[in-house]
Amino acid sequence: MAKFFITWCLAIASVATGVAGARSVPKLDQNEWWGPPELMMNTEELQQRKCIRPWSLTISQDEIDYLRWRLLDHHSFAPALEDSNFEYGFNPDQLDDWAQYWANEYNFTRAEQVLNQYPQYKVNVQGLDIHFIWIKPEVPKGVKTVPLLMLHGWPSSVRAYHDSIPILTTPNKGLAFEVIIPSLPGFGFSDAAVRPGLGPAQMAVVFKNLMKTLGHKKFYVQGEDWGAVIGRQLATLYQNDILGFHSTQLSILSNCEEIKTFLAGYIAILQVELQQFNRTATTELLEETGFMHLQATKPDSVGVGLSDSPIGLCAWMLEKFSTWTRRDNRLLVDGGLLNHFTRDQLLDNVMVYWLSNSMTSAMRIYAEYFSNAQRALGIEQIPTKVPVWNIRPIHELLPSAQNEIKFPNFVGTTILDAGHFVFFEQPEAVAKDIFKAVKAFRSYRKW
Ligand SMILES: *[C@@H]1O[C@H](CO)[C@@H](O)[C@H](O)[C@H]1NC(C)=O
Ligand SMILES: *[C@@H]1O[C@H](CO)[C@@H](O)[C@H](O)[C@H]1NC(C)=O
Repeated sequence: MAKFFITWCLAIASVATGVAGARSVPKLDQNEWWGPPELMMNTEELQQRKCIRPWSLTISQDEIDYLRWRLLDHHSFAPALEDSNFEYGFNPDQLDDWAQYWANEYNFTRAEQVLNQYPQYKVNVQGLDIHFIWIKPEVPKGVKTVPLLMLHGWPSSVRAYHDSIPILTTPNKGLAFEVIIPSLPGFGFSDAAVRPGLGPAQMAVVFKNLMKTLGHKKFYVQGEDWGAVIGRQLATLYQNDILGFHSTQLSILSNCEEIKTFLAGYIAILQVELQQFNRTATTELLEETGFMHLQATKPDSVGVGLSDSPIGLCAWMLEKFSTWTRRDNRLLVDGGLLNHFTRDQLLDNVMVYWLSNSMTSAMRIYAEYFSNAQRALGIEQIPTKVPVWNIRPIHELLPSAQNEIKFPNFVGTTILDAGHFVFFEQPEAVAKDIFKAVKAFRSYRKW
């Protein structure tokens, strides 16, 4: 426990010292190897994997049968406390309904078609096979196509972007996007690192290399949740190559807000330690950030249950979709999930984690971000000249404020009546906002 105290204290201190120290951009190894050592030795295999190969998902009958069995044959759930709704987490009385739907009504053929509706590929980067959607639209003469790297977060996946893709790839006032949408390493169908250290900064290097492989030295970046954190690293490490950074949240935390977030986790330990946990006295933030602390410290233990039980996985993930969308959803017996999303939309996203068995490796991103090594790079304290545009969803739990020292070239903000999962909730509004932002980036750069 003492070790965590020190770690979190240092985290707070390093953020508190702020951007003012004007550090220089760290030099990260651009070829750092994250895959198994055997692969590095096997030149023939590696050469093949370094080719861009088309890829699609196959859901076998065996996998479907196994999933159905696990969904229907589980320990009974603890009955929910009277009137507790979603305040203690996902309401257990609601879970049978989800298990029944998933096992008996969810259409696996449709799911496979939906998850394969856009062209997908794999290519090996630094030892890891990276999965990505890639669409370069055919456009009439006079339309300019620009590359856009789109990075998802947790517990999201490339599925988040599905409904925005048709809008982004259709010309709008002379502009269209070539979209490149990878699964983060360790998430979904991208390989996970085999050794510690692949944090958001190192992922930025992986994605820079991915874009290079696809023929793009310079490109735009869009990021949501962890994708926004990785976007910040890209915009800081490669200031001459990132043409603009559009983020949907968490991107421009002021130092003060970031301290509050860290403190929430810190106070949680203190309070539990001192046996003085007083719910009324703790902040909402504290109540909702326990997962972050767990995933940043013991992802592998938490991951055992989540990767073994599909309904456990579903509850852990969808509780976030409930509360992070509208905090008052905690007061609804069904968590309000179906007021904002469809069951299929939510389960498709859970399926990405279930089929790839990637929840444990995905959660490790929290541990890598809060590590001493990641913090020592000091990337969050280095200003970047890359122009930035931010969406602020008004129901977002974590506060976000513009940090003009980190991002002096801030070109715009959009306030959106949405929660954390903006791409699931309002795909059209976000896609239109990206056009607006990139047009602003282009005129900013001309100017
Ligand atoms: C399942 O989805 C497939 C593909 O969309 C469709 O052809 C089929 O009719 C659906 N099955 C049921 C039972 O609805
Ligand atoms: C918890 O905190 C609230 C607000 O500070 C206070 O009114 C209440 O008495 C505390 N409860 C306990 C059990 O300490």
